[in-house]
Amino acid sequence: MEKIELKNIKNVLLLGATGGIGNAILKHLLAENLSLNIYTLSRSQIEHPRVHNFIASTINEASLSEFIGTVSNNKFELIINTIGYLENELGGPEKSLRDVSEEKLIEYFRTNAILTPLLAKAVRNNLSPDGFAFVALSAMVGSIGENELGGWYGYRASKSALNAFLKNIALEWGRTNKHSLVLAIHPGTTQTRLSEKFNSHVAHKVHSPAEAAVNICNVIFSVPFSMTGNFLNWDGRVIDW
Ligand SMILES: NC(=O)c1ccc[n+]([C@@H]2O[C@H](COP(=O)([O-])OP(=O)(O)OC[C@H]3O[C@@H](n4cnc5c(N)ncnc54)[C@H](OP(=O)(O)O)[C@@H]3O)[C@@H](O)[C@H]2O)c1
Repeated sequence: MEKIELKNIKNVLLLGATGGIGNAILKHLLAENLSLNIYTLSRSQIEHPRVHNFIASTINEASLSEFIGTVSNNKFELIINTIGYLENELGGPEKSLRDVSEEKLIEYFRTNAILTPLLAKAVRNNLSPDGFAFVALSAMVGSIGENELGGWYGYRASKSALNAFLKNIALEWGRTNKHSLVLAIHPGTTQTRLSEKFNSHVAHKVHSPAEAAVNICNVIFSVPFSMTGNFLNWDGRVIDW
């Protein structure tokens, strides 16, 4: 087996399924594979007969561990983290250093970066021995090599940190399992709650959540295990770290 096949997947673990892209991935996977089960952890209810939803007021190490405890009789072929934020009650992305604050930087890192290694730690004994993909949605602006504009300190750096975590996870799991695929994927600019205030400024195409979900799944199901530890664009291009 060279890669993950959607038809062979039995169990999916999805974080961020209440979000624009996460919910579109959930619907796409359920429609394309009529026998898979999806296990979600979220802050609000997700109603679907094939979705096993665990609700927690906060997504953190404790609730991740509790969630995995409730699903630990399963092995997962696909684990996806789509949780992320750009703007909340603390404010939006920083235009310059004058907008940077300790509280906001910590919140960017807490939500966009550290949940992924905590998820990997929690799920590490429940990865399918037949092969699995572990994916987190990153962002092009997290590429240090392709940063030509500056600004957005917290969001950029938290996605760069996420990429660094994913590379490390890929190396650790790749040593013992040649059928592991760990990827950071940039979904492309997509019309969601996260991006709605910023999309009017972009010159390139803005995807619908359904298009983004198809693109992301096409990448996951076309890339061989040998590509583990990469940062990929929605069209499969390798993005510079
Ligand atoms: N949209 C784009 O153009 C774009 C571009 C590049 C990268 N991305 C990345 O793609 C991913 C999905 O984004 P999206 O566009 O689908 O955004 P979205 O519609 O705003 O969804 C964000 C998801 O993250 C969850 N979330 C946010 N803050 C959280 C927190 N503190 N604790 C727990 N969950 C939290 C939300 O849960 P609640 O429903 O509970 O709030 C929701 O499920 C993100 O990682 C984002 O950075 C998006």
